[in-house]
Formats: sequence, C-alpha cells, structure tokens
Amino acid sequence: EFKEDTVIVVFGASGDLAKKKTFPALFGLFREGFLSSSTRIIGYARSKLTEEELRTRIKPYFKTPTEKSKAQVDEFLKMVTYISGPYDTPEGYQKLNSTIEEYDAASKVKESHRLFYLALPPSVFTTVAANLKRYVHPGDKGIARIIIEKPFGHDLASAQALQKELAPLWSEDELYRIDHYLGKEMVKNLVPFRFANNFLSACWNNNFIKSIQISFKEPFGTEGRGGYFDSIGIIRDVMQNHLFQVLTLLMMERPVSFDAEAVRDEKVRLLKSIKPFDKDNVLVGQYTRSEDGSKPGYLDDETVKPGSKCVTFACLTLQVENERWQGVPVILRAGKALNEGKVEIRIQFRENSNGMFKDINRNELVIRIQPDEAMYMKMNTKVPGISNSIAVTELDLSYKSRYSNFYIPEAYESLIRDCLRGDHSNFVRDDELDISWSLFTPLLNYLEGPDAPTPQPYAYGSRGPAGLTDYLKRNGYVFQNRNIYQWPVTTPD
Ligand code: BG6
Repeated sequence: EFKEDTVIVVFGASGDLAKKKTFPALFGLFREGFLSSSTRIIGYARSKLTEEELRTRIKPYFKTPTEKSKAQVDEFLKMVTYISGPYDTPEGYQKLNSTIEEYDAASKVKESHRLFYLALPPSVFTTVAANLKRYVHPGDKGIARIIIEKPFGHDLASAQALQKELAPLWSEDELYRIDHYLGKEMVKNLVPFRFANNFLSACWNNNFIKSIQISFKEPFGTEGRGGYFDSIGIIRDVMQNHLFQVLTLLMMERPVSFDAEAVRDEKVRLLKSIKPFDKDNVLVGQYTRSEDGSKPGYLDDETVKPGSKCVTFACLTLQVENERWQGVPVILRAGKALNEGKVEIRIQFRENSNGMFKDINRNELVIRIQPDEAMYMKMNTKVPGISNSIAVTELDLSYKSRYSNFYIPEAYESLIRDCLRGDHSNFVRDDELDISWSLFTPLLNYLEGPDAPTPQPYAYGSRGPAGLTDYLKRNGYVFQNRNIYQWPVTTPD
C-alpha cells in the first residue's frame, strides 16, 4: 500500500481530462481525508504554464460543499507543482526524476512511491510509458504504478498492439486501466447486492428473468468534439467499455472472494460465454437538429466529415451461452443527444401465470446508476382501499431519501484511492480487453465498412430513432404502463 509521501504525477496536466476529472478527484480525496498533505502532486505537460497558471486552471472544478472544504483548496494547491516538458525526449523525464528524488530526500522516505496518471491521448501513450519506465521508475528503490485511460485500442488488432508495447515495460501488477464506470457507487454495489441477498441468488437466472436492458442516455451531443467522436462512435465510446463492465458484473458467477483476480476471473469467464453478435439485429441512429431547431444535428458540426455515418445511438442484443443465461436477451442501448441523461439497468422477470389474474405486469428491477442512485422493484399489489384491482407500485430504495449525509465518492476519486491502496479489482485486466474487442470488432467493421447501414435519424432531444420501441419489444423488453399506480390515489379504479 502507498503510504504518506507518495508522489503523484499527472501527465496531460494542461488537458481537459486532468482539469475536469483527475485534479478534482485528487482534491476530493484530500478533502475527505484520504490523501495526506505530505503527498506531492506534479502536473506534467508540454504547455508552457507557470505553476500559478495551472492552479488557476484547475481550481474552478473542485467541489467544495462546506466552508471547511473551501479553506482546504489553497492547502491542496500548495501540494501541486508543474513541470513543462516534451513527451518524446529524455530531458523532461530526467527533470521529473530529479524533482521526485528531491522530494523523497526531503521527506526522508525509505522507499520511493510513485503514481503516474496518464491523462493523455493514445498517440503519446506508449512513448510516455516507455520514457517513464526508462527514466523515472524507481526500480528496486520503491514502487511505481501507472494509470492509463481509454481508449485501450480502436479494435482488436490495435488493442493487442498496444498491449504488446506496454507489457514488457509495465507489469500487469503495476498497470491500472481505468474504466471510470467501475468507480460509480451503484456499479460497485452490484457484487454485494447480488451475492449478499439470498432471495436474489435464487431467481438470478433464466428460470425467472425474461430480459435485461442496460441503457446509457445523454442529453447532449458531441458539441464541437465531433471531429474526435467521428472515428469513435457511441459503441466504442461507451458500450465496449462502460456498458460491458456493467454487464459482466451483473451477469458473472459468484467470485470465490473479493480478491481482484477472483473477481476478474469471473468477469472473463462470463465474457467468454457471450455469443458473437448478430450484426443484423442492431439498431443504429444519428441525431439530427432538434425539433425546435435550437440544437444542431450531428452533421452540422463542422469538425465532422460531411455525410458521416457515425453512429451516435445504438441498440444491440446479445446472448450469453451458459446454463444460467441461455435464452435471456441482453439489450445494450446507448445514445447521445437524447431526451434525458440517465444510466440504468432494467431486469424484467417472467410473466406471472394468468388465470386468477389477467394482464398483470412483469416484475421489473431497475438499478439506476445515475443520476440519483436508486434501486426499485416494480411490484403488483392491490390498490389500497375499497378496491380489489391490482396495480403496479415500487419497492423503492432511493439513496437520497434513504441515506443522508453520506459521502459518495466521485468515480475517479474511488478509483485513484483503489490504486493508491494497490487494489486492482475495479480496473480492467488485459484479457478482458481481448475478449470484448473480439466481440465488438466484427460489428464495428461492418458498421464502418462499405456495406454499412445508414443510421436512422432521430431529433436531438428525442428518445431515439422511431424504430426503438419495436426493437426493444422484438428483443424481449416490453414497456408496461398499464395500471400505473398513481401516488396519491385520488380515484381508485
Ligand atoms: C466517457 C465518454 O468515457 O464517458 C463520454 O467518452 C461520455 O463521451 C462519458 O460522455 C460519460 O461518463 P459519465 O460519468 O458522465 O456517465
């Protein structure tokens, strides 16, 4: 475990990710007492910035919910320094190394503890990783860890090539591949929730579950980042990584312990059971101008190739071929520029046998990852009062009302803390990547190849392409809004 006096180096310190996520997460950890004031944080980037300029740039993104935390900002900023240097020549790295050595000498540490956070685009990833290993790794005088951010490749071949370059430099033990969804509270809750509740274990299979849907909705489009997004698309951006992580934790078998390898072994086993995707059963879309004309369409973005078929909305249905899940469709759904921002899991149970009942709804368990963490189970109950009819209501665990005054860490806070503690369970292992890319690459090749279907248009701010409801229904997810129990009930039916 990293103790006091760790040196954290943030590469790409002048960039967007560092400003919006990495530094605020470090501040959050400091604010909550998880980072001691003897930690040294060094920003590193090519930009010629002064330390003061870096501090001014990152400060507005810090969350300061209390008076006390406002006062902590300056204290934290004193821990942050900056080195400007190139990524591809030794000078900057040598300077970085000597700076760390000075810190270590001043704090009289026995071992040098170094954490390198690469908030960098893939084009410089391996160059930096190689130079760090060569010039800044403490060797047998300490411990070094390196955090890298997606994209981990663009397809199977490039992911494998990246891995091949990194593996001889940084051992799997030193390498922490971030998928920030693994740091979200409800995602971290999936394992305890599933395996610590016996009644759930009993029905968590194809005897009881009819369909699963994991959906990601964002209310904004690419907003000027289209040029970057155009070669990526929604499937690479959130499905191959974030939604797949949710899927594996939701559907894997019970790990023998919480140990990182035990958990990741089960994830890999589940991934291996996924059937190759059926490319003919996908629904792809691209957003157009909003109905009122106030929001631009994807193709209106000047940074996007004219006529681009880039997918900004996608639905695909997959099958897990094992005893537990055979026959249960799993729908992954993701889109930008939709009517709302929400990420949730919906598990629909099999129909109740009719006979005494007619047309009652499926039970449905909803796990809302964001916003406002919640879990609720849609249940059929008698309408209260002088009525014998059945209506849907919920067993509702909404975190906001159930837990007050709890500190729920931001995803990045939680993950950086895990890395400082040497816990790999919420990071992506190399073999997970291999399997997920093998599954996604043929689909992506098809969607980006000469026979690519034209994505269906949907207006910015809508639910998605017109075919969505039909698609979901065809694949096992039914919308049910019959007999919705209204609260409070004014006229019982
Ligand atoms: C990132 C994607 O990985 O995740 C973005 O590149 C997306 O396009 C983001 O907006 C969503 O993360 P969150 O935490 O806001 O749900």
